Amino acid sequence: MKTAQDIYRDLQSSLGDVLPDAELFIKAEVAAEVLRLKVERDAVILGHNYMEPALFHTVPDFQGDSLELSRRAAETDKSVIVFCGVRFMAETAKILNPTKTVLLPTEKGGCSLAESITAADVRVLREAYPGVPIVTYINTYADVKAECDICCTSSNAAAVVESLKSDTVIFLPDEFLARNVARETGRHVIVPSVLRKGAVAANGDDTTVEHTMIAWQGRCEVHELFTPEDVDVVRKQYPDVMILAHPECSPEVTAKADFSGSTTAMIRAVERSKAKRFLLLTECSMGDNIVAANPGKELLRLCSHRCPHMHEITLEQTRDSLQFMRWEIDVPEHIRVRALRAVERMLAVGPKID
Ligand code: 13P
Ligand code: SF4
Repeated sequence: MKTAQDIYRDLQSSLGDVLPDAELFIKAEVAAEVLRLKVERDAVILGHNYMEPALFHTVPDFQGDSLELSRRAAETDKSVIVFCGVRFMAETAKILNPTKTVLLPTEKGGCSLAESITAADVRVLREAYPGVPIVTYINTYADVKAECDICCTSSNAAAVVESLKSDTVIFLPDEFLARNVARETGRHVIVPSVLRKGAVAANGDDTTVEHTMIAWQGRCEVHELFTPEDVDVVRKQYPDVMILAHPECSPEVTAKADFSGSTTAMIRAVERSKAKRFLLLTECSMGDNIVAANPGKELLRLCSHRCPHMHEITLEQTRDSLQFMRWEIDVPEHIRVRALRAVERMLAVGPKID
């Protein structure tokens, strides 16, 4: 097992340009304690791409986007899963692993998209559009997944929609992701309003048009803040920049970017590109993580928009999570079995090749 000294040396070579030595030394001590507890508890640690650099580069057994980490959660034989991400991700791990202990290193770990829709909203839509398949973005809670037919993530959303072979599809709850996927799959989007149980208003949109995607008004509180003007201003200042936008950004922003894809797809695109300078329109920590792994690349920073939920997870919180076995994720069995159908159906579709 790596000692604090080993970890300190590794961190110095990967993060020496991002974090001062004094900080690296403290982080190395904490990371060594996490690694010790991980063995003691028979745990696997899954780290989302947005985790702070000192955590991301030390303790996760697996790093990745939502889809990759769901697949890792489905495959693990460890008794404990520590999910360094937000609550909906840890819930997905629990849905796939009912007999294992799943820990989230924060009590909250919310997400504005997951909070934008309830199970009752989905039931209203189901009643209003009978027979129309319902796709839910993985950024939802288990009770919402339980009401839907299939899940998707940002890396397989278009493949999931196309797998349904249905002219009309309900796609929840991220309106911008829905609009981006609709553009990719040649669909027309409507955003109805839920009026009361069993009724929706189509807001003047024609629901009889072919190839329709019925969307919801959910937004990611981080990605909705990036604007087409941000893209224009950065391009004017740095004409050689490659701009990458997460598909939770508005379609006006993704249309102006050079690339749009999941967090891992963005990382791979930066690694593959010959460009020297990049701008990521997503949570800022990911830029630091990419620079640490690719020292020759320059990442411009638009760091005013951060995800406060992802930032609740730190190395220290991860250590405490393993030490005190907190905070345990619980999904009631009657909800879990229904949500599992939607998650397993997504995993069977397979990832989009980026
Ligand atoms: P990814 O699945 O692309 O990692 O996205 C998760 C997320 O919450 C982005 O904000
Ligand atoms: Fe949710 Fe947005 Fe944070 Fe991702 S970045 S976890 S979508 S609030």
